[in-house]
Amino acid sequence: MKSTVGLIILLILTTTVFVSCSEKENAPINDPSVHISNRKDAHSYANFNEIYTKHLHLELEVNFNNNSIYGVARHQMVNLDADTAIFDIKYLEIQKVTVGDKDEKPASFIIGEFDSILGSPLMVAINPDVEFINIYYKTTEKCEALDWLAPEQTAGKKHPFLYSQGQAILTRSWIPIQGSPANRITYSADVTVPKELLPIMSAENPVEKNESGKYHFEMKQPIPAYLIALAVGDLSYKSLGKNCGVYSESELLDACAYEFVDLPKMMTAAEKLYGKYQWEQYDIVVLPYSFPFGGMENPRLTFANPTLIAGDRSLVSVVAHELAHSWSGNLVTNATWDDFWLNEGFTVYFENRIMEELYGKEVADILVNVEYQELQNTLKKEAKEDTKLKLNLDHRSPDDGMTDIAYVKGALFLRTLEVNVGRERFDKFLNSYFNKYAFQTITTEDFVAYLESELLAPNNISFNVDEWIYEPGLPSNCPKVVSARLEKMERLADQFVEGKNIFLDKKLKRENYTTQEWQTFIRRLPTDLKPERLKLIDSKLNFKGCGNSEIMSEWYVLGINSNYKGIRSEMAKFLSLVGRRKYLEPIYETLAQSKDSSDLVWARSVFEKAKNNYHFVSKVTIEEIIY
Ligand code: BES
Ligand code: ZN
Repeated sequence: MKSTVGLIILLILTTTVFVSCSEKENAPINDPSVHISNRKDAHSYANFNEIYTKHLHLELEVNFNNNSIYGVARHQMVNLDADTAIFDIKYLEIQKVTVGDKDEKPASFIIGEFDSILGSPLMVAINPDVEFINIYYKTTEKCEALDWLAPEQTAGKKHPFLYSQGQAILTRSWIPIQGSPANRITYSADVTVPKELLPIMSAENPVEKNESGKYHFEMKQPIPAYLIALAVGDLSYKSLGKNCGVYSESELLDACAYEFVDLPKMMTAAEKLYGKYQWEQYDIVVLPYSFPFGGMENPRLTFANPTLIAGDRSLVSVVAHELAHSWSGNLVTNATWDDFWLNEGFTVYFENRIMEELYGKEVADILVNVEYQELQNTLKKEAKEDTKLKLNLDHRSPDDGMTDIAYVKGALFLRTLEVNVGRERFDKFLNSYFNKYAFQTITTEDFVAYLESELLAPNNISFNVDEWIYEPGLPSNCPKVVSARLEKMERLADQFVEGKNIFLDKKLKRENYTTQEWQTFIRRLPTDLKPERLKLIDSKLNFKGCGNSEIMSEWYVLGINSNYKGIRSEMAKFLSLVGRRKYLEPIYETLAQSKDSSDLVWARSVFEKAKNNYHFVSKVTIEEIIY
């Protein structure tokens, strides 16, 4: 936190200024089972240990004329003993603050020093008995969470579109809020949108438009701030089962329903593994291509990128992943972003178990293998400090922790535990873990203590937990996962490199092998292959225009490294359509690092034309790479 000192000084000043209106008697009684105090979060200014939001009611008017939201955030607080309530804000225009459930009293407030990562503290002077704090605000052009799309950027091309992305700390740029995951809140919202559009949230949702353009939302289970989400567009809904379905623009709806047909089976498998689904409904909304992630686990309503609609259901492990977050992440939440692996490592492990239940061990092992290949790359690239599961992201963006370390090393840690204690015991342990910490936020240390007392000590098992969590790199007891099918693809790639005509085999067609098999094939090819050789592969398998974004993006990276110019027009098209960071980042990085300096010039010119189609999250990442 760059401005900690400034903030402390400011706080001392404000406390003195506010002292006249603060009487520290009659502090409301806190329910300690709901709130865990004395937590620190380097990524929030909020004093949630002293006063915290219990329920948030939002009044939002979504305005596509000037791409902004006019809002009132009505915070219902529990005050332990504070005379100042601190909220996180970033690039918000604060119009006024009042206290009381009828807005009766204006409150004085101060906006503290701005930090480029955290934004600013909004400090409101309060009486100890205050229950409601109402913040009137407007989002601005610089808002980092919201992506406002013009009609041309949607599938239907007729109506604009809006969606939010809250994780990790972007919610404060569209809602003034205590922006730490350590605090959980319930929320409700009254949202007004243009009549042609349907708003949906991470809450109980409408399935069709109404005449008034006014909608009410309720999220009755307590969630962290980063999971509040909103999408507004010309959306339709199709049910996929008794409590699940998909939203998208009508042009895509049938394709989405086809792609996600296994969703009900995934839910059954997930519940069988780790207990009841706690959020009643599970829907997916397929957003425009600019969405910066494959999926985002907003509760009751996963947000998804249309690149998942590959046409052959080959990328559904992302759905298993986001569904798994309904337990790991949404039910049991990382208390700080240093504990991010608790969210993602558990989820990757759980995702794989769902995939195994539905499609068998061979498929699941292939997925682990591909992830393992990616982890090896990450381990080579990242600073040693950043290859620990428990991170220290003070003064850094939480985004820096979003690597395969949290995801894959985290999942392999759990897998190693499973192998050591046996699957049955491990599943029982995970069940009790999700049960014990349901609707709570926990730190790595909470987990370690629970693991020790509930699994390792009772079974007399010694395990290198500390090495896995607090040391860099991958411990040597990590189990090896082999896959005969992937080894076959590696041999095939080797044969091609040796000059053999592998295409004599008539069965060597793209559709006869899975995405992961082709990824393994591509990854095995060396970067010093002659461009003609890559061109030959394209003439037989058409990777460059195949429509599968996982394959295309890896093929483009190889193509740049091998100076294969034949991919340029497809690659430019891909870069201007797709805003998913996972694909953009390696492509731009390879262009920027290329020996041929004209590649960087090319990258910049493509980016300048395409950047309007990227969400803030992807835009800044790419800007850092190419400028
Ligand atoms: N929760 C993440 C996305 C995220 C993480 C957004 C951190 C912002 C900050 C989501 O569940 C995720 O991991 N998505 C992955 C898919 C997955 C299968 C690895 C993605 O988008 O690629
Ligand atoms: Zn995830």
